[in-house]
Amino acid sequence: MTTTESESLRGIDLLADTWGEGVPHDQFDILRREAPVFWHKETDGGPGFWAITKHADVKAASHDWRTFSSELGATFIPTADEEMLAQLQLTILNMDPPKHERYRRLVSRGFTPRMIRILVEDIERRAARVIDDVSERGEVEFVEEIAAQVPVQMICEMIGLEKHQWQRMFELSNQLVGGRNDPEYQSAEGPDAAAMEVYMLCDAVAADRRANPRDDIMTALVNAEVDEERLTDAELNLFFITLIVAGNETTRNLINHSMLALLDHPDQARRLREDPDLWDTAVEEMLRWGSSIHNFRRTATHDTELQGVAIKEGDKVVLYYASANRDEDVFNDPHSFDITRRPNDHLTFGGGGVHFCLGASLARAEIKATMRQIVNRLPDMELTGKPVRLKSDFVNGIKKMPVRFTPIALAGA
Ligand code: HEM
Repeated sequence: MTTTESESLRGIDLLADTWGEGVPHDQFDILRREAPVFWHKETDGGPGFWAITKHADVKAASHDWRTFSSELGATFIPTADEEMLAQLQLTILNMDPPKHERYRRLVSRGFTPRMIRILVEDIERRAARVIDDVSERGEVEFVEEIAAQVPVQMICEMIGLEKHQWQRMFELSNQLVGGRNDPEYQSAEGPDAAAMEVYMLCDAVAADRRANPRDDIMTALVNAEVDEERLTDAELNLFFITLIVAGNETTRNLINHSMLALLDHPDQARRLREDPDLWDTAVEEMLRWGSSIHNFRRTATHDTELQGVAIKEGDKVVLYYASANRDEDVFNDPHSFDITRRPNDHLTFGGGGVHFCLGASLARAEIKATMRQIVNRLPDMELTGKPVRLKSDFVNGIKKMPVRFTPIALAGA
């Protein structure tokens, strides 16, 4: 390693309070090139962690749950105390097989192809209505009034919440996810208040579906049975909190970043209008580009190595998806946005293996439906101010994004 190289590594700080300015792609470029398995110090007294930035390594670690556990220390970077860890281990993201296998089989009942089909038909209608609702105004706040709408409505639909509860769910999901780093989203009642409120909302609906079954996900989940086992009430409620965390902010922000990418590349938006067959590859490129979860963590269960670097039992290992998605060994010209990119083996939904995103088809459908409505119906959308980013080393978030467009009159209005 040359002196200059080691100097650039000395500047690496993936915990700095700078995520609010953007994804540190310059640091990831250096890491992939010079130290793809990099020992990163923690400033809050934590022991430090390995930052994994190459596509192949993120994939390998995700597939090898025996070596890289999601359960041992859970999947967030900070070291959880015993009580917090026990709480986290009740959710699917923080379980290893065989516990994970049982849980995933049970909750998968809510995500059968038939359930997804019902949801997908609904998504198209909802996306059209979201644009109907803003189309005559000409100036809106993109994040809350457009990007957030379909994901939050679908989560409410899955849980069985009514329309008047959508706005509250939007606020609660901000507190659940953004509250970790961003002061704007921290609730006065303390960090557990949002989780408790969701918990109680779910409880009421679950009780109703047991008594009055319907053709919906909540009914499928309250009745899901595998090997004569059912989800307990606590497991069910925690699953819905996971859905809100895993499936709401992520998709909303993917839509935000997709919009910004198309505003930066108007030629590609035009191609999408001219050739709708490009939508499938375009959505994959939007996913690669927007990569809305920065990382999940694993913990080494025994001494091992990655890229020849020794990793000790108990070490924290952090998988950086946004970096894997710009790996020059896998993607040609990785820092360019190209809606025709194929193949496109992005790791936005995780590196594969047992934790592969349960909501991937749902998210794809939500992104496609919303973006198609915007591209086709509001073609001259533009920013009227600088997007405000979420301060988070976990979610690649945008909080506010003011836009304007030529208002359109609704047919029959
Ligand atoms: C663009 C949107 C989304 C992104 C970027 C995303 C990302 C991810 C990632 C990276 C993982 C893997 C976690 C790991 O390996 O530790 C994951 C798992 C998961 N996702 Fe998603 N997700 C999205 C949308 C959704 C949606 C819409 C839902 C459901 C409504 C959902 C539900 C889940 C669940 C339940 C898991 C845990 C699966 C398991 O542990 O077995 N996600 N997601």
